[in-house]
Amino acid sequence: MLGLKLPTDPRWVNIAEKSIDEVLIDHAYCEQKAATSGISLIVRFSEYEEVVEKVTPLVAEEWGHFRKVLKELKKRGFALGPQRRDEYVNKLIAFQQKGGGKEKSLLENLLICALIEARSCERFRLLSTQLEDEALCVFYHEFMVSEAGHYRMFLDLAYHYLPQDEVKERWQAYLDFEGEMIRDLALRGDRMH
Ligand SMILES: [Fe+2]
Ligand SMILES: [Fe+2]
Repeated sequence: MLGLKLPTDPRWVNIAEKSIDEVLIDHAYCEQKAATSGISLIVRFSEYEEVVEKVTPLVAEEWGHFRKVLKELKKRGFALGPQRRDEYVNKLIAFQQKGGGKEKSLLENLLICALIEARSCERFRLLSTQLEDEALCVFYHEFMVSEAGHYRMFLDLAYHYLPQDEVKERWQAYLDFEGEMIRDLALRGDRMH
């Protein structure tokens, strides 16, 4: 359903479970970045009415997610701490095509957002179905459902503003690239991606 080319290595949940505090911290930053990248979409593409209309409530939702994860961290006695380097997102941004006008730039940004939502959703599903801690399974299930909706919304926005063939072709390129990235990135139990 998400179109991802390579499923997450099944060992990831077992490794992540052992350092779940680190996963929660990284997750908190993912939510923070989702909110801030939503704001930057609204600022940069303010003349695209659908973008403003759809992304504005998403920002509120992502900020709500950030607060939820912070609360969970606090409950467990963990602090947010400094932000870490996000190799996954950095590599995706490096894959982005520069130039080609504003609409092309909108497309690149929407597809990166859709892809991050898709991979996050896939990982939340793994956490929600395979962690031993039942409360955390319920916690992650909610995120999985929400991020699945965001993934769809970003793709729909791309199809709304750009020709179908162009979106399809670029989306496939992103999916292929992301699949190779996932294959090559070290499997880390302290990261969401
Ligand atoms: Fe989120
Ligand atoms: Fe999201």
